[in-house]
Amino acid sequence: MSNQLERIKELVELRAKARMGGGEKAIEKQHARGKYTARERIDMLLDEGSFEEMDMFKLHRCTNFGMEKKQYLGDGVVTGSGTIDGRLVYVFAQDFTVNGGSLSETMAEKICKVMDQAMKMGAPCIGINDSGGARIQEGINALGGYANIFQRNIEASGVIPQISGIFGPCAGGAVYSPALTDFILMMENTSYMFLTGPKVVKTVTGEDVSQEDLGGASVHATKSGVTHFTAETEEEAMQMIRTLISYMPQNNMEEAPRLECTDPINRLEDFLNEIIPDNPNQAYDMYEVIGAIVDNGEFFEVQPDYAKNIIVGFARFNGQSVGVVANQPKCYAGVLDCNASRKGARFVRFCDAFNIPIVTFVNASGIIKEKENQMLVAATKLTTAYASATCPKLSVITGQAVGAAYIALAGRGSNADLVYAWDTAVISPLSTKAAVAFLFNDRLANGESRDALEKEYESEMASPFTAAACGAVDDVFVPAETRNKVIAALDVLAGKRETTIPRKHSVK
Ligand code: HXC
Repeated sequence: MSNQLERIKELVELRAKARMGGGEKAIEKQHARGKYTARERIDMLLDEGSFEEMDMFKLHRCTNFGMEKKQYLGDGVVTGSGTIDGRLVYVFAQDFTVNGGSLSETMAEKICKVMDQAMKMGAPCIGINDSGGARIQEGINALGGYANIFQRNIEASGVIPQISGIFGPCAGGAVYSPALTDFILMMENTSYMFLTGPKVVKTVTGEDVSQEDLGGASVHATKSGVTHFTAETEEEAMQMIRTLISYMPQNNMEEAPRLECTDPINRLEDFLNEIIPDNPNQAYDMYEVIGAIVDNGEFFEVQPDYAKNIIVGFARFNGQSVGVVANQPKCYAGVLDCNASRKGARFVRFCDAFNIPIVTFVNASGIIKEKENQMLVAATKLTTAYASATCPKLSVITGQAVGAAYIALAGRGSNADLVYAWDTAVISPLSTKAAVAFLFNDRLANGESRDALEKEYESEMASPFTAAACGAVDDVFVPAETRNKVIAALDVLAGKRETTIPRKHSVK
């Protein structure tokens, strides 16, 4: 064999060896756990054949605890670039078959390199995490590696979209870094997120706790709100990440891709005229409203199982990507509590960072008072997020817009660009019941009907026409017209420019 052929053969073999990660047995173990390998995941995520790998031959430099004998080409993370629907993305996928995907100094360098490249090219960065955290044998070098990654997560925040998939038992830095990114997706049953794993908890506190209870997808989807999405299969997870990316621009200087719209823009939805129940104690389902008016009824919901009294997610109007925020009357009457305020605020901040217009459907009779002491700070987060957002903001008051919820979600003073109201809306500083008790105490004491007084209050003080008369509402229309009106408003707001006074940053 010629020297040249020999060299080519060596390179082919070396690449094949790198592609085997931790080796055949470790791959079999990974598959037996119902998990794919790092390279298989990248192949599922990206457009076919688009992956360009970097640093395939990089090796760690640790000689502590016999680590020099545990060398694998690429050292436990596969990094590079590729495309999703033809758009450039950067990706890293930790390889659990190599030392449990634990992060060495070298691995951190590889991850930092793709993050730096993503920033330079202005392209989203997607991390596929399957790692036990800092490689304990490397001590401070691994820990310092995470510090470098966290720094980049923070610097990239609001500049390029950052998405984290959690595809295995992740601990320590392997969850802290994803928590610094924009969106987290967890696998049901095979992925966990904890700062310290059950083994460490047992050692330190003596307590037995299962991986699922400590940080399973169900806990993080419903209780902590850490994860934004969950998926049953890895195939489904990758498709969800692709869909999520489709709603986003490449970076904060670009616009999200506009798709061709096949759904008529002036479609009327007559059933919406009937959706508000006559009895205010009966709730309507805000999902029906959203589904009826967005393009093709397609709504990509974020955090669907957390703080269900507020709904957030992505949709399109006339092909344009928007962030939808809506109170859900079917859950706590759409009233805001701490979790709902934080969920809403975080989503609004993402949309604003990437100049994605926010369409808000308001039906909240104020804020929950039961956690009054915590509520105050949480509620201000939502108000701050809306008021400081400079992206196009359009609010449609579909039901009650009361007190702090009105100000945060639809307040003209809070900087909303356009505020619309259905003709059935009620806009008031207090709930109708409370306002009537306050204003008409004497008349109630004289035996006047509470129902009649509430009707009088709503028609004279809290009607959308009263709000329109003072300019707090820009237009009042019947619910059926909503799609048409929203699309027209988004067209008007498309060229919005708003500059703010220079400052270092707000304190809130
Ligand atoms: C070195 C590690 C490792 C780590 C796992 N491995 N985590 N090696 N450093 N952090 C190795 C294991 O020794 C094992 O090697 C292989 O990966 C697979 O791990 P298993 O334990 O067999 O797998 P499993 O039972 O599925 O448990 C996975 C796990 C568990 C839950 C992640 O390994 C675990 O609890 N690891 C430690 C988690 C942790 O406390 N990390 C915090 C790191 S400190 P062999 O050779 O046997 O196959 C940190 C600081 C960040 O990250 C600070 C900011 C927050």
